[in-house]
Amino acid sequence: MSFPPPSRRSAVAPFIAMDVLAEARALERQGRRIVHMELGEPGAPAPQAVRAAAERALREGAIGYAEALGRPELRRRIARHYADAYGAEVSPERVVVTTGSSGAFVLAFLAALDPGARVALTAPGYPAYANILAALGLEPAFIEIARETRFAPTAAALEAAHRQRRLQAVLLASPANPTGAMIESGELAKICAFCAEAGVVLVSDEIYHGLSYAQPCETALTHSREAIVVNSFSKYYAMTGWRLGWLVAPEGLVRPIERLQQSLAISAPTLAQIAALDAFEATAELEAVKAGYARSRALMLERLPQLGFDDFAPPDGAFYFYVDVSRFTADSAAFCRRMLEEAGVAATPGVDFDRARGGRAVRFSYAGPEAEIRLGLDRLANWLGKSGDAAL
Ligand SMILES: Cc1ncc(COP(=O)(O)O)c(C=O)c1O
Repeated sequence: MSFPPPSRRSAVAPFIAMDVLAEARALERQGRRIVHMELGEPGAPAPQAVRAAAERALREGAIGYAEALGRPELRRRIARHYADAYGAEVSPERVVVTTGSSGAFVLAFLAALDPGARVALTAPGYPAYANILAALGLEPAFIEIARETRFAPTAAALEAAHRQRRLQAVLLASPANPTGAMIESGELAKICAFCAEAGVVLVSDEIYHGLSYAQPCETALTHSREAIVVNSFSKYYAMTGWRLGWLVAPEGLVRPIERLQQSLAISAPTLAQIAALDAFEATAELEAVKAGYARSRALMLERLPQLGFDDFAPPDGAFYFYVDVSRFTADSAAFCRRMLEEAGVAATPGVDFDRARGGRAVRFSYAGPEAEIRLGLDRLANWLGKSGDAAL
């Protein structure tokens, strides 16, 4: 055993999508052409105006630290976004700029919860949630969701979990990863009411807002002043590597979050903060990117069932399909490995999102370029012997 041994809290599960990516890259180094449907990363670059603003800022001078809570212009602009997009009034003082939404979760949990607190989250759900909770000494309370409720968590299920053993917080996302499911407005209102009445902290991950295909997204702030809302420039704004996100906190948590941020990160990246101001003006470009996702989604809706991948709830938003593959396998990790090696298509096994039931599910991302999604579907058709036209 090495000394010092790793801490117990570092024993978090690997993020399997990243492992699949590493295997795919290894095959690419051997000369294979791989279609990437494993990662939730926009195929498009950051908006042109964002990149131009970053170039200007680099030419003009030093990029120093920013204020721990974020550059005031950006905090004001984010606050205005709530008025523009949702008709919700948010004071800039409640906005904190973070290192992606990932940084926002760490700040929110540290500021709002003591060690050992129980946090409800869905299974399937975004794998990093449980890993962040584990690393911070918090206890995940998994709420199983299924196709019957269109993979949306309900207030009733949360109340039942709370009755069984007291929850200190609820963490949910709408649209969600890996299912693309959205919580409909009435249910979201009930969840917010339950949290307020029971004194449970609600953390609403709104990172996929802007990427919904049937109805507009609704912020938890519409129903609750106490909710902690987390968002990011990574998805709709196509700025994953800029590592920029934000949270909206209740007034009483802002100063604790500021103190934590001062010591944990000092500030979110200044260059990204300067450039991100322009992301809010790039609507035409970003809506064109979104129209591409909508076309890929329609193609997937049509073609996946023809391939035998017919057990899924049509996703409301984000850029994923979470498909039950029990008719092919009970070991989705092995299935995805074969799919990668034999068909040259990378996808993420469900065990990443649902440790108990994910062996029977696969997540396909359609965030990449449209032509790649089409090629991926053709390859899968060939692989499964369902008449496709692409060479492997
Ligand atoms: C649901 C969800 N939340 C949060 C994140 C983290 O994103 P970032 O830290 O880039 O904002 C992701 C990334 O895929 C996600 O899917």
